[in-house]
Amino acid sequence: MRAIRVGLLGIGTVGGGTWDVLNRNAGEIRRRAGRAIRIARVADKDVNKARRLVDGKAVLHKDAWEVVRAPDIDIVIELIGGTGIARDLVLEAIAQGKHVVTANKALLAKHGNRIFAAAQKKDVMVAFEASVGGGIPIIKALREGLAANRIEWIAGIINGTSNFILSEMRDKGLSFAQVLAEAQARGYAEADPTFDIEGVDAAHKLTILSALAFGIPMQFGKAYTEGISKLTQADIGYAEELGYRIKLLGITRRAPRGIELRVHPTLVPARRLIANVEGVMNAILVKGDAVGATLYYGAGAGSQPTASAVVADLVDVTRLITADPEHRVPHLAFQPDQLSATPILPMGEVETCCYLRMRVLDKPGVLARITRILADSRISIDAMVQKEPGEGEQRVDIVMLTHLALEKNVDKAIARIERLPTVVGKVTRIRLEALL
Ligand code: NDP
Ligand code: HSE
Repeated sequence: MRAIRVGLLGIGTVGGGTWDVLNRNAGEIRRRAGRAIRIARVADKDVNKARRLVDGKAVLHKDAWEVVRAPDIDIVIELIGGTGIARDLVLEAIAQGKHVVTANKALLAKHGNRIFAAAQKKDVMVAFEASVGGGIPIIKALREGLAANRIEWIAGIINGTSNFILSEMRDKGLSFAQVLAEAQARGYAEADPTFDIEGVDAAHKLTILSALAFGIPMQFGKAYTEGISKLTQADIGYAEELGYRIKLLGITRRAPRGIELRVHPTLVPARRLIANVEGVMNAILVKGDAVGATLYYGAGAGSQPTASAVVADLVDVTRLITADPEHRVPHLAFQPDQLSATPILPMGEVETCCYLRMRVLDKPGVLARITRILADSRISIDAMVQKEPGEGEQRVDIVMLTHLALEKNVDKAIARIERLPTVVGKVTRIRLEALL
């Protein structure tokens, strides 16, 4: 059988890794796929860089449009990134009847519904294992391995850069800026690193996971997104003292009145496996009604780990290329005419436990007024610590953990507490998840 011919768009961090892995493991991959898979054309803005990597083994293009329109290409791999030209190239590849493999979570979270509809019309596959969790086969697990289950919730560390930053800050006491520069140098960070730090990249990935878990369309615009840029060493320290670690989690849950879709820093009990996931590693907990909790762990970013997922998709597409389209795994795990209209819950309607830290004047009656406000807002306190004031210091930190409370009630209570003359500055709120 003739080799499957691939057109690679973008030979940067992930594209370079994909080139390497596919060439290095060509024999193994051929035995798995049943035929050879060969990158026949490569497009990159920087043709000289591409020439050094490819070394005459593929046709080079500066213009990616030439690759998506080349009649000899069966599968296009999009590894340019972003939602501009990448979207147009992917849609054109589909229009040309080519299958697509992409690692571009931003593209799928924002335009996935349109892309999958176009692919369905043309009977082509769009594979995207590398878009979530780097090398972890989480998409395959959700679409296939867990197909028997009614998924209850997913909670994951799905941004390697922010986990790397949190780990290095805690372990080595390095500054935020130092660690971010290191993550960029290692090729973990997005082209715009604020996507990593402010939770946007994690929200892109969570949007994909949520769609696969609950059989709903991609709804990135409804995701609640809060990043790690405002976390302080003080909160990391207090959390540790109380037996918790702070992680940037993406959480999607089937709640009675809708689906939660939220990314934010989260206190997780230190004894949970996921609390001990460090560096660029990702981990995703999926709770199914039959299987219970399952955990998927591995490198969430980087050249070769991400290439591992891209190449696995190439193998999958190659195996199914001649299959009847009706018998392929649906893009979003559920049949396209079976997607559900369950709404995404607004953040105000979500219930979580919370960590609240406030700085107050060390005077009689201050605590009583704060606890009165919390009680008025139907917020029950689970634990509380008041730190000793320093020598000559008039202000003390109070840290509280609450039981489950409705987000909009917590918002109102925080606003009232911040208006008290005995409270200094803002109240810090970090949500807490037991993950049981
Ligand atoms: P890079 O920036 O390293 O690579 C992108 C490549 O595409 C660069 O070589 C760039 O060239 C080239 N390029 C840009 N525009 C064009 C164009 N119009 N035509 C042809 N080539 C072009 O990005 P990554 O490899 O890190 O990321 C690629 C995708 O993979 C993104 O969607 C990203 O989100 C995703 N991803 C990345 C991971 C990682 O660990 N890095 C992990 C998982 C997913 P030039 O440099 O000259 O601009
Ligand atoms: N910037 C992303 C991260 C790359 O740090 O997780 C992997 O998707």
